[in-house]
Amino acid sequence: MLWIKAFHIITVITWFAALFYLPRLFVYHSMSSDKTSIERFKIMERKLYKGIMMPSFILASVFGLWMLQGYAWQAYSMQYWLDIKLLLVALLIGYHFYCGHLVSVFRDDKNTRSDTFYRWFNEFPVLILLAVVILVVVKPF
Ligand code: HEM
Repeated sequence: MLWIKAFHIITVITWFAALFYLPRLFVYHSMSSDKTSIERFKIMERKLYKGIMMPSFILASVFGLWMLQGYAWQAYSMQYWLDIKLLLVALLIGYHFYCGHLVSVFRDDKNTRSDTFYRWFNEFPVLILLAVVILVVVKPF
């Protein structure tokens, strides 16, 4: 199971790299007005979402569920940190798919939101990362 945990952590890291970078691209995309930049951002966003964010999310989930059914669900059944972690991960998955929706919105040139919105939007995965890592490492309750 230690191998599975190692690959879980590796794929969580690559998932977060994309979760941090994609909304950053939305910030710059929403500030752009020239056609060349806009078309370049569309390609970058699509490739990042489909090529890195989606495979990382799938693999991180597979390795996480593997550990869950392998030992963790039973081992930590009397502790709340795992339930709270899974709840936060569910919110993160919602954020992930909302990012996918935004990739389509930008692709169709339908974005109406400002760069300030995307700057704040970008902070959400930071909060989840802080909370989840503290929960899984400290296991406070
Ligand atoms: C996608 C759904 C996920 C599932 C089903 C899942 C499940 C699990 C399970 C069962 C463990 C083993 C816990 C232990 O033995 O202590 C684990 C470890 C870990 N998870 Fe996840 N996880 C998921 C997503 C995430 C996310 C999004 C993060 C980061 C924000 C994360 C960070 C970690 C870390 C750092 C560990 C190692 C903890 C340690 O051993 O010290 N996981 N995960």
